[in-house]
Amino acid sequence: MKILMVCLGNICRSPLAEGIMKAKVPESYIVDSAGTISMHEGEHPDKRAIKTAANHGIDISKQKSRPITKADFDTFDKIYCMDIDVYEDVISKASNEEQRLKISLFLEAAGNHKNAEVPDPYWGDLKDFEEVFQLLDTGCNIIKNQLISATTQRKN
Ligand code: 4NP
Repeated sequence: MKILMVCLGNICRSPLAEGIMKAKVPESYIVDSAGTISMHEGEHPDKRAIKTAANHGIDISKQKSRPITKADFDTFDKIYCMDIDVYEDVISKASNEEQRLKISLFLEAAGNHKNAEVPDPYWGDLKDFEEVFQLLDTGCNIIKNQLISATTQRKN
């Protein structure tokens, strides 16, 4: 199973989602993240994202921002978008229906009916990053269980 988390800059939300999901899934799973813009390409995650993850025992400091590529739509099985703008942008970059079927809004996939979007904490403070962490952590637990039960069912 190959999972791609996508946000705008790939320095706040999707690096956290990548780190959190990696900590939950079996080692055979591939988890990566990307942004829809290349403005922060090559940069490590935002210091506040690194600190928030570290507070929960997760090291995301070595990740580097990269923009989503055409190849990602073939490489990954699931592409989770952090908000609606990102979702629409990612959908518009897909080449065919098979690729579009891989794409979903992260919180919608996680069955969160209260929020559709993971709020962008970039202009906020550490408290906003912690709130994002909690949303992502809860969502990743639900999505991980879905993915694992789907793969187990296929094997049986
Ligand atoms: P992210 O947050 O999409 O969660 O990585 C942002 C990062 C950078 C910017 C906006 C949001 N920016 O405008 O540079």
